[in-house]
Amino acid sequence: MTFDQTKWVWRNGDIIPWRDANTHVSAHALHYGSGVFEGMRCYETDDGPAVFRLEAHIDRLYHSATVYGMEIPYDREELAEAICEIIRRNDFNSCYVRPLCYYGSSSLGLHPAKCPVEVVILAWPWAAYLGAEGLEKGVRVTVSPWLKFHSQMMPTTAKACGQYLNSILAVRDAVSRGFDEALLLDIDGHLAEGSGENLFIIREGELLTNDERHSILLGITRDAVIQIARDLGYRVETRALRLEDLLSADEAFFTGTAAEVSPIREVDGVQVNGGRRGPVTEQIQQVFFSATSGRNSRYKDWLHLVAPQPVEVSY
Ligand SMILES: Cc1ncc(COP(=O)(O)O)c(C=O)c1O
Repeated sequence: MTFDQTKWVWRNGDIIPWRDANTHVSAHALHYGSGVFEGMRCYETDDGPAVFRLEAHIDRLYHSATVYGMEIPYDREELAEAICEIIRRNDFNSCYVRPLCYYGSSSLGLHPAKCPVEVVILAWPWAAYLGAEGLEKGVRVTVSPWLKFHSQMMPTTAKACGQYLNSILAVRDAVSRGFDEALLLDIDGHLAEGSGENLFIIREGELLTNDERHSILLGITRDAVIQIARDLGYRVETRALRLEDLLSADEAFFTGTAAEVSPIREVDGVQVNGGRRGPVTEQIQQVFFSATSGRNSRYKDWLHLVAPQPVEVSY
């Protein structure tokens, strides 16, 4: 994938050409990863492009900023409108959206007190993160030799730039050994999550997932899937997950904004559901995509329409 240099970026209240959206090499965030961000998807619907769970993503962005003592110099409504504006300006029907708030350039002491908070919003078309085939056939994962850091080391419920070095180590190792994705254990040896996804296991018609006690990011897709599964009549239990639970699972899948609902077909050579997407996973995927595409009225509230700009009337 290459970025389209003819597109636009929202930066500190202005829309600027993609190719001009640069930052100085002395930016605090470049040295220390001192930024917080979000990843959301905008889907095509009959009523035009719509951002999935926009308000939940904005809430999490403010939560991440608060944890790191960062003050975002815009309110929630301004950021929501800025997100819609950049989608409109780039003429996207569907895309991935990445708001990022980071400490800019002023000093390189660790305490960023004097550094300005820069806010940018990027948007670009992004196909299925683990591949279109992954969505249908499932992905192959490996248990990472890298553990997920404990929430007392860094706040795992925050989505902060530097925290992702842990995920980068894990995914690089997994891919170098021929897998699609890594699965990280927490420091107690329980399953935590993928490098950028939450985990669900299905056993005897029941869904199992973990929560922040196991050092995960509380995913917004995870939340949506819990609700969809319950609406479909499945029991969803939140508890510690052991590797044995996964290895003996009927089905398993990842959830995430980028990965959406991706079946897991193999864990370190052990097949899940005979190496295929399972029926419950498929059913949840179908409802999930009916919600993201606006075809399911039950979940209409999850979509924030990128309303067209009001037409200026000239007399
Ligand atoms: C580490 C991690 N876990 C889980 C998720 C899934 O979260 P969400 O569904 O909100 O995208 C992500 C993606 O943002 C992630 O980076």
